[in-house]
Amino acid sequence: MTLVLSIGGSVVGGDQDRFLEYAEILQRLASDHTVFVVVGGGETARDYISRARMWGADETFCDLIGIAVTRLNARLLIAALGNHAYPVPPETQEDATVAALSGRIVVMGGTVPGHTTDAVAAILAEFVHADLMINATSTDGIYTSDPKKDPDAVKLDKISPRRLIEIIAGSKMEAGANLPLDMLAAKVIERSGVPTVVVDGRRPQSLFDAVRGKPVGTRVQ
Ligand code: UTP
Repeated sequence: MTLVLSIGGSVVGGDQDRFLEYAEILQRLASDHTVFVVVGGGETARDYISRARMWGADETFCDLIGIAVTRLNARLLIAALGNHAYPVPPETQEDATVAALSGRIVVMGGTVPGHTTDAVAAILAEFVHADLMINATSTDGIYTSDPKKDPDAVKLDKISPRRLIEIIAGSKMEAGANLPLDMLAAKVIERSGVPTVVVDGRRPQSLFDAVRGKPVGTRVQ
């Protein structure tokens, strides 16, 4: 299979053991599958963005800061993967396909301002005709609304891309915003038809469950 994994910066940042567990799981997946990884910016990106915004930076400037952090995180993951990874994070989806000719795991961060690495991953998944996209994030799936703010929020096991778009339409988009997937990602998932699973990134083993088709997180299809 061709897999595109979108790993939130919040799940690869911080805990070193989990970071290394991801590196190990990615290597195991890469022995059977073609693996592309898109890494997010996490807490570091949010911190830098909020400080730049405080000093009057516009949202595009903030996005560029975020992209720089995602690429830094991508390099960290490449360091942990050693020879299993292509040594440089591609800056576009097109370059990622060229990097994949090496036969190694391709790890990249953001591309251009205006979206998040989830959209980067969704576009990449469409471009490489991925069999599956997995989004490892800081919650255990997609909820009807933000579970941190709404006690009535309900976790969904499976939803259509259209329903996902409706949920996201109720949220505000800004640099560093905390959403399960951004609007562009959802729209690209809808048009590409690439099956997508949103899993709890705090449990790296979820990647195996998603690849094996076990019920885990939220399936968008
Ligand atoms: P993330 O993809 O990490 O955003 O990119 P996020 O979803 O807010 O963070 P996680 O998933 O919880 O870790 C960090 C920021 O970098 C900018 C955006 O501002 C984004 O919020 N960015 C990232 C872009 O503008 N373009 C990209 O292609 C990627």
